[in-house]
Amino acid sequence: MIKAHVVFATMTGNNEEVADIVCEALSQAGAEVRETEMSQTAVEDFKQADILVVCAYTYDEGALPEEGLDFFDELSESDLTGKIFGVAGSGDKFYGEYFNKTVDQFDAVFEQAGATRGATKVKIDLEPYEEDVEQLTRFANELLRAAQPKEA
Ligand SMILES: Cc1cc2nc3c(=O)[nH]c(=O)nc-3n(C[C@H](O)[C@H](O)[C@H](O)COP(=O)(O)O)c2cc1C
Repeated sequence: MIKAHVVFATMTGNNEEVADIVCEALSQAGAEVRETEMSQTAVEDFKQADILVVCAYTYDEGALPEEGLDFFDELSESDLTGKIFGVAGSGDKFYGEYFNKTVDQFDAVFEQAGATRGATKVKIDLEPYEEDVEQLTRFANELLRAAQPKEA
């Protein structure tokens, strides 16, 4: 069974909701799913899964979540070759050019660590609405498809 690990960082609950939606869709589609909070997650443990997902907020005009800085640094020093990744997040369009910058930063760090993007990053404005649930479900299904063993 394909293993997925979804890590979230949240202050007011939106990104936990985003993570819950992704987990639900991955699990409906047949993956074995783990969901943990970023500051409680060791990268060593995280990278045991086949599909690696981050859902995190942006703070202070483009800043990463403070409690996720160690996780981000550790990820940047990891070799994630052979892993499938996806990044989704909730930010606030009010912040203009800084909208969901954390999503861009995690997307870049996964790529730099050698992982393969299984689905295009998803940026949500505040809490997820119906169309966001649909988009996140497509995101999860794409990740799972990318992680399927290739036919010989
Ligand atoms: C002080 C402060 C700074 C913020 N800066 C940004 C930002 O630069 N970009 C962005 O997209 N959202 C920014 N936000 C908005 C949050 O990322 C957004 O509300 C998000 O949905 C919160 O997610 P959470 O409920 O998981 O904590 C900021 C919020 C606060 C309170």
